[in-house]
Amino acid sequence: MNVKQNKSDDSNSNSHSVLETNTTKHTTSHTNIDVLVVVGTRPQFVKLAVLLKYFRKHGINFGVVHTGQHYDYEMNKIFFEDLEIPTPVKHLNVGSGTHGKQTALMLERLEDTYQEFHPQCVVVPGDTNSALAGALAAVKLHIHTFHVEAGLRSRLQFMAEEINRVLIDHMSTLLFAPTQTAYDNLLAEGIATDKVHLTGDVMIDNIVFYADRIEKTELPFTVTPNQYIYTTIHRAENVDFPEKLREILDAIKLVAQKYDLDVIIPLHPRTKKRLLSYGMFSDFVASPGIRVIEPVGYFQSLKLAKHAKLVITDSGGLQKEAFALGTPVVTMRETTEWVEIVDAGWNIITDYKKTRILDAVTHFMEKKLPQVNALEFYGSGTASERITSLIEDFLGGNIP
Ligand code: UD1
Repeated sequence: MNVKQNKSDDSNSNSHSVLETNTTKHTTSHTNIDVLVVVGTRPQFVKLAVLLKYFRKHGINFGVVHTGQHYDYEMNKIFFEDLEIPTPVKHLNVGSGTHGKQTALMLERLEDTYQEFHPQCVVVPGDTNSALAGALAAVKLHIHTFHVEAGLRSRLQFMAEEINRVLIDHMSTLLFAPTQTAYDNLLAEGIATDKVHLTGDVMIDNIVFYADRIEKTELPFTVTPNQYIYTTIHRAENVDFPEKLREILDAIKLVAQKYDLDVIIPLHPRTKKRLLSYGMFSDFVASPGIRVIEPVGYFQSLKLAKHAKLVITDSGGLQKEAFALGTPVVTMRETTEWVEIVDAGWNIITDYKKTRILDAVTHFMEKKLPQVNALEFYGSGTASERITSLIEDFLGGNIP
């Protein structure tokens, strides 16, 4: 393992004030920016929340580039506001499209952007098309790429995110693995040990850092703790197939009826479009116990996850957030990259299958959960600080 020791005196501090007092060091007025951080989607914005606070605290000269992959207010701006992410130095306005077109447009505009700001390195979090384009445009210009959330694998060869992350990992100069499994995956693929660092997971930093704020967040409606299920559905492999989406909706309706619980579902724009085009929308939203709402802000989502009886999702990040907040998870995917939660007995993988979803819900309704320290699996809230130290070392010439 290749974990760097924390350098600053307050290495264990998650204090809001400690980090907030250093915000003035960052400036976007330079033409040369040492570190460009490329993002474009909701889960990527979330991964920057605490990381950029540490960048500021350590005086790193950075700028955010927004590809524009997500553009709706609820998918985009609300996250920048909530998480105090600085205004991007460049917005590429790429928008939606086929993967090829979307990625190509990003590549073209990112190349110009890198030539404008001359970064020493580019940081890409996650596995979206924005992350792939960020990495590829950089390596083609011989700019170092650093991958936050490296080494995750679903082993689903044709999953867009799996293709993206494998490619990004094999292009990157520094790879920040969130878990031991991710770290091991990278070494098993032949990536040099000195490039790979087990840092922990930046999303867990948010849970630790923002614990109070999550609790104090107001919801736009009333919920009774433990009396509802929190559900999200957005993955292309589920929602782009009407027969799969039908099974998922049927399962959720049955769960709501069987346990007499509300199922709260903030609807992703992809899912809404598909439900409308398959003619499934009206019937579903009118079903007993089903509460379909607009996409919620980040802290509202965490609060909903924390107080839910159960989370049912096909999101990667929400599986982990729920676990860290003490809520068990049913994952409507074929597999998961976050295997620790399954091993700990807090997550059951069901794919889109109705009977498997129902069985998994029954399990969590009836069985006692094993005792675990969820945060320990993911670095206990220190990932952003470790990553920042490694980047500082790199910029200071201390990492070859
Ligand atoms: C993308 C990521 C996925 C991530 C997800 C989180 C890739 C390959 N996938 O999927 O890993 O989990 O973001 O949301 O990068 N749309 C809007 N408004 C928006 C954005 C999208 O209406 O602001 C609609 C458009 O119809 C678009 C569709 O949603 O075609 C899908 O958006 P896209 O960014 O292609 O992929 P996501 O499904 O969001």
